Amino acid sequence: MRTDTGQIINLADYRPTDFVLERVDLTFDLHPTETKVETRLIFHRREGVDANAPLVLDGDELVLSGLLLDQSELPAGQYDATPESLTVRNLPESAPFELTITTVINPEANTQLMGLYRTGGIYCTQCEAEGFRRITYFPDRPDVLAPYTVNIIADKEANPLLLSNGNFLGGAGYGEGKHFAAWFDPHPKPSYLFALVAGDLGVVEDTFTTMSGREVALKIYVEHGKEPRATYAMDALKRSMKWDEERFGREYDLDIFMIVAVSDFNMGAMENKGLNVFNDKYVLADPETATDADYANIEAIIAHEYFHNWTGNRITCRDWFQLCLKEGLTVYRDHEFSADQRSRPVKRIAEVRHLKSEQFPEDSGPLAHPVRPTTYREINNFYTTTVYEKGSEVTRMIATLLGRDLFKKGMDLYFDRHDGQAVTIEDFVKCFEDVSGRDLTQFSLWYHQAGTPLVTASGSYDANAKTFTLSLEQMVPATPGQTVKKPMHIPLRLGLLAEDDGLITPASVTGAELTDDVLHLTKKAQTVTFHGIPQRPVLSLNRSFSTPINLQFSQSTEDLALIARYETDHFARWQALIDLGLPNLLQAARDARQGADITCGSAFTDALLAAAADESLEPAFRAQALALPSESDIARELGGNNDPDAIHAARQTIIKRIAEAGEDVFTVLYDGMQTPGPFSPDAASAGRRALRNAALGYLSQLDETPARTKAAYDAANNMTDLSAALTILAQRFPDTVETAAALAHFRDRFADNALVIDKWFAIQAAIPGDGALERIQLLMETPLFKRTNPNRVRSLIGTFVFANPTGFGRADGAGYHFLADEILEIDQRNPQLAARILTSMRSWRLLEPVRADHARSALLRIERAAGLSTDVRDIVERILKE
Ligand code: ARG
Ligand code: ZN
Repeated sequence: MRTDTGQIINLADYRPTDFVLERVDLTFDLHPTETKVETRLIFHRREGVDANAPLVLDGDELVLSGLLLDQSELPAGQYDATPESLTVRNLPESAPFELTITTVINPEANTQLMGLYRTGGIYCTQCEAEGFRRITYFPDRPDVLAPYTVNIIADKEANPLLLSNGNFLGGAGYGEGKHFAAWFDPHPKPSYLFALVAGDLGVVEDTFTTMSGREVALKIYVEHGKEPRATYAMDALKRSMKWDEERFGREYDLDIFMIVAVSDFNMGAMENKGLNVFNDKYVLADPETATDADYANIEAIIAHEYFHNWTGNRITCRDWFQLCLKEGLTVYRDHEFSADQRSRPVKRIAEVRHLKSEQFPEDSGPLAHPVRPTTYREINNFYTTTVYEKGSEVTRMIATLLGRDLFKKGMDLYFDRHDGQAVTIEDFVKCFEDVSGRDLTQFSLWYHQAGTPLVTASGSYDANAKTFTLSLEQMVPATPGQTVKKPMHIPLRLGLLAEDDGLITPASVTGAELTDDVLHLTKKAQTVTFHGIPQRPVLSLNRSFSTPINLQFSQSTEDLALIARYETDHFARWQALIDLGLPNLLQAARDARQGADITCGSAFTDALLAAAADESLEPAFRAQALALPSESDIARELGGNNDPDAIHAARQTIIKRIAEAGEDVFTVLYDGMQTPGPFSPDAASAGRRALRNAALGYLSQLDETPARTKAAYDAANNMTDLSAALTILAQRFPDTVETAAALAHFRDRFADNALVIDKWFAIQAAIPGDGALERIQLLMETPLFKRTNPNRVRSLIGTFVFANPTGFGRADGAGYHFLADEILEIDQRNPQLAARILTSMRSWRLLEPVRADHARSALLRIERAAGLSTDVRDIVERILKE
C-alpha cells in the first residue's frame, strides 16, 4: 500500500497538460496474479509548450516492464520509472508520437478495490478517482479525454464474458484455451470512466428504443442464478432512460448499455461509459430478500449512474475540485426522478432528513469543506455528503431562483455549449446567468463558503397598517480554513397562511425581492414588509426546504399546529411537526441528564397523532411524521456536552408517551394498514407497510411481552415486514428467547444470501447499550462475517459506529478504542473503507468531557501509528485539529 507523502493539491495550481492525448489502445492479457497490460498512447505536444518539457505520467504501485517510443526501445537515460511516475524526455517537438507501455499487475492482491481487482472470481475495475494509474502509467486526470480501444485476452472457460466500454467490435479464439474481445468507445473520455469486466456471469437482457428511434441493447450481469433478482433494476433503468429524454431531452448514445453487479465494491456504483459497475446491493431485489428501502435505493442509484452519461461523461470535470459539477447535479437529477416516480413531498422529506443527519454534522464539524473545495490531500475523502447532497441542494436553488423554464433553458445551454468538454463550476453557473440575465456571483458563494447558514427570523403584524413585517438575519459559521464569511443569496419559499383558511397574497412587498413565493435574502440583515394583509398571517417559512439552512424562528405552538394541519405544502407540515417535537426531545435530554422527570407537551402529541390518523394524508407521509429525529439528530441540536445515554433515555421516554397517548390510533393503523394481494414494491404499498410498521413500533412500547411483535415476524411475507419486526424485537425485547429465536431463524433462513445477512448484522449492531461492543465482537467471529468485504464491514462495524450512539459511545471509551483497532487493521487492506468509517468520529468534540477524552486518546492512537494511508491520515488529522 502507498503511504502518505503529505502532498497537498491546490486548485490554484491547475494548468492543462503539456501533451495532448489523441488516442488510447489497451491490451489486457488477463491472469489472476499476473495480468499483462500493454498501453499504446498517441500524444502530441500542446502548442506553445517548451520543446524540452518531458512527459510525466502517473502511476501507483506500478512496475514498468516495457517501454517503446514509436516502436523503438529507448536508451536508459531517456526515461525514469518509479512506482508513482514515468517520465520520458527528448520527445518530438510537435509531431505526434506513440508510446507503448507494458505493465504487469496483480488483480488478486488488489485489496484496495481500486484499479483492476478480483471479486468472486470476476475481474473488474474501479478507476474513479485515481485508480487507472494502478493499471498503467497514464495522464490520470479528468481533463485528458480520448477515444479508447480495448482488447481483452483471457482464459475462455473461466471468462466467457469479456466487457469494456463502448461498442463491441468483435472477438475470436486466441491460442490454446483463450479467446479475445475488442471494444471501441468513440466518445472521448477521461481514464476514470474506463472499465473492464471479465468472468462468468448470468445476464438479464432487454432493449430500449430511444426518442430518435434507435434500439439500445440493455444487459444486466449478475452471478448465475441471481437473474430473477435483477428484473427490478432493469425496469428502473428503462424508466430512467425514458425520464431523461422527457425531462432533460437527453438521449443515450451507444448501441449497448451494460450494468455489472459485483459483491466487493467500495462505493454504491460507478458510471463507467456504457459499462456501469454496481455494488450488488443496489441491483439485486426480490420481495423475499429486499426491503422497500432497498427497492427505492436501487431505483435511485440505477438512475443516478445512468444520468451520469450526460452529467459526468459527455460533460466531465476539468479537475477533481469540480467533483460537484457531476455529482451535485446528478444527485439533483436522481432526486427529481424519484420525486416524479413516487410521492414528491415524501421524497423531499426523506432527502431533508438525510441532509440534516449526514451533511449538517459534516458542515458544522472538523471535516467541513465547501461544495467546491480549493484544496485536498486525498481526493477519495471528498466523495462526501457535502459534495453530493449539498451540491444537489445548490443545483435545486438555481432551479428555484430561475424557475422551471429558465432552469431548463440553462441546462440545454450547458449540454449544448460544453458537450465533449471537461469544465468547471463557473462554466456551469455561467449558462444560467446567460439564459436568465441574473447575476449569480453572490449566489455562487454556496459553492465556495462551507458551513450551514443560520437564518434568524421574527415577524410582527400591524392590524392598523395591514402590514406584516418580517425581520431576517443570516450568519454563516466559521469553518476550517474559512473564518470570515460573506452574506449569501438565500432563496426562501414562503406562504402567508390565513388562520381560517387559505393563503394570503400580499398587495406588495418592500425590503426584498419576491418572485412568486420565493423571497430573496441577500443581505446580512433585511426587514421585509408585506402590504395589504387583512389579518394576522401564520408564516410558513422555507417551504419545501428551498434552502439548506438552520432556521431559528420562534413560532407559537398554535401557529405550528396550524401549519402541521393545513399547509398545502406537505413538506412544511412535516417540518412543523418536527418543530413541535424537537423542543420536547431537547428538554427531555436535558432533564434526563439532570435526573429530572421527563415530560412531553400535548400540543406535540396531539398534532402528531392527528397526522397519523388523518386518512386524507398519504400513509408514507404519516410514517415519516411518526419517525422522530434520531439520537444523533438530537445530539447535534443540543450542540455540546452530550451524554448519549441521557439522549437515548429521553427519546425512549418520549416515544413511550406518544405510544400511550396514541394507543387507539396505532391499533387502528396496525389492524387496518394491511397490503392485500401479492407483494408490490410500488410507493403506495411501501407507504402502507411503513405506516403499519411504525404503528407496531409504538405498540410494542406498550407490550409487556414480545408476543405481538413475534406474531408479526411470523406472519411477515416480505423482507420489509420481516426485518421491521426483527428490528423491533431486537430493540425493544433484546434479551428474550423470542428475539434470540427470531435472530437464529433469520440467520438460518438467509445464511446463503450475504446481502440479507448484512441486515442481520446491522439489526444486531444497532441494539443500544453497553453490551453492544461484545455483541459486535462475537458477530465478527462468525463465519458469515468477511473482513475483506466492504458491505459486511459497513453493516456490522459501520452500523455500530454510525448508528448506535450508546453502544459505541459507552462511557468507558471501549467503543472508541475498538474503532481505532479496526481502522488500523482495515487501513492496511482498504484505505478508502477505513477512512470512510473513521468519519464516524467527526462529532467527537460534542461529547461530554469524559467520553471526549476517551475519543481523543483513541484518535491520537491512530494518528501516531506508522504507515497510515493518505486517506486515514488526512481524516484523522483534520478531525483532531483544534
Ligand atoms: N462516481 C460514483 C458515483 O456515482 C462514485 C465513485 C466514487 N469513487 C471513489 N473512489 N470515491 O457517485
Ligand atoms: Zn455520482
